[in-house]
Amino acid sequence: MSNCIIAPSILSANFAKLGEEVDAVIAAGADWVHFDVMDNHYVPNLTIGPLVCEALRKHGVTAPIDVHLMVKPVDRIIPDFAAAGASLISFHPEASEHVHRTVQLIKAQGCQAGLVLNPATPVEVLDYVLPELDLVLLMSVNPGFGGQAFIPSALDKLKRVRERIDTLGKPIRLEIDGGVKADNIGAIAAAGADTFVAGSAIFNAPDYRDVITRMRAEVAA
Ligand code: DX5
Ligand code: ZN
Repeated sequence: MSNCIIAPSILSANFAKLGEEVDAVIAAGADWVHFDVMDNHYVPNLTIGPLVCEALRKHGVTAPIDVHLMVKPVDRIIPDFAAAGASLISFHPEASEHVHRTVQLIKAQGCQAGLVLNPATPVEVLDYVLPELDLVLLMSVNPGFGGQAFIPSALDKLKRVRERIDTLGKPIRLEIDGGVKADNIGAIAAAGADTFVAGSAIFNAPDYRDVITRMRAEVAA
């Protein structure tokens, strides 16, 4: 798939040298930076906010920053992330009182908008809002932590969302997040994903370029 986007999740990076880590994965062939925002409320973990996004931009990161908001309520943090340099902003429908309104808010701030489906969230949540989206993010783990095992039912769900996107005929990206490794990314791509988040598989590897190259080869196979 020539269209393949690899988005390392910095959740598994060394936060003591985050700028260098992001430079290293981009130099190793990554396309986007996946930026996991957790609030110890919507999910049981606490991570990073707009200040860190802005710091990466000031450091010189020019790659798209793919912000995955796991915060509730979600609307009030969106303008801050847009101002901090986010390129795409995705959110969970369970964290928004008005999903369509939140999508419009993201787009009005000049960012691309994504909706995130948890493993138990039905694909029907995309009804009526899919045409407004730039990206659908399917979780293949429950949100909150890196390093969890891929939930196999995500493959069938990918196929169902891929069908919906293809039927609509719009260039909406289909991103998968959680437990993505070089040895399962081929099956994940075959099920319809075109955008791949990987945290532990990349940042825990001794050679970032090697693992990203292997992932691309598996997607293309
Ligand atoms: C989980 C996060 C993921 C996570 C992926 O809530 O959204 O982005 O960092 O990590 P791995 O690839 O290790 O499953
Ligand atoms: Zn994520």
